[in-house]
Amino acid sequence: MSWVAQPTTGSYFTVFHNAINNDTSFRMFKLQGAFLRPVGVTEAAAVPQMMKTIGTLDIEPYKINDSMAHPVERMYGLGTDTIRFIETTCIMSREFGDMTGKSICEMGSNYGGLALCMLTRWPNITSYSLVDYPIIQDFAFHYLTKHGVNTNNISLGEPDEPFDYFIAEYSLTEQRPMEAMIDMWKSYEPLIKTGGIIRCNIPERDREMLFINTVRESFEVSVIEEAIIRRPNKVLILKR
Ligand SMILES: C[S@@+](CC[C@H](N)C(=O)[O-])C[C@H]1O[C@@H](n2cnc3c(N)ncnc32)[C@H](O)[C@@H]1O
Repeated sequence: MSWVAQPTTGSYFTVFHNAINNDTSFRMFKLQGAFLRPVGVTEAAAVPQMMKTIGTLDIEPYKINDSMAHPVERMYGLGTDTIRFIETTCIMSREFGDMTGKSICEMGSNYGGLALCMLTRWPNITSYSLVDYPIIQDFAFHYLTKHGVNTNNISLGEPDEPFDYFIAEYSLTEQRPMEAMIDMWKSYEPLIKTGGIIRCNIPERDREMLFINTVRESFEVSVIEEAIIRRPNKVLILKR
């Protein structure tokens, strides 16, 4: 399944609206076509490489992310997206260390799955901003609350104040046209104090290079090229 989202439809938002208001819809939201078409799902073929990055980390605590709402497919007892989210926590840990006491802004935070995994690993992240469409932000808050997260440090929407780390997984780089993507990046860039991760999904090579070079105007960027089975195959690590 492609990571490049299809145009957002009303029914995409309806999935989140229903899942806030109805327990059955909540349990099933990750399986809905209207959710999967724009959001996608991590391919099972990518999992072995992710498990290498995850290494010896105990994955048991992260099963919480698939405990109430069913994922499309489980491997190692986890949804494949949850495995990717754990991998992200491992990349953050390896590149930047402990997130305790740090502030994070996640653009395209969707239902809050990565946020739940980050907060499972580092419950004392000082602030975590969820940025998505309003109904999806509201749903993510609901999702985190239902999973017992202390939401005192959660905020919804783009922060006004600078934050330590920026994360965008297949979200910033799906903006079209290209000018809108660059404009959006430029609105976040001055607020990022230390660095972050962008999972990049720009299919066209020239546009991908334009984006990476724009980010390089203000950050050192390392590009992790991934196995060809994984599409798209770039993780960008940003450091001031
Ligand atoms: C392909 S999904 C990825 C979701 C999640 N980051 C993940 O990795 O599973 C893209 C996400 O970005 C959000 N998104 C796309 N464009 C956006 C925009 N302009 N403002 C806010 N959210 C946006 C979508 O609603 C969706 O949650």
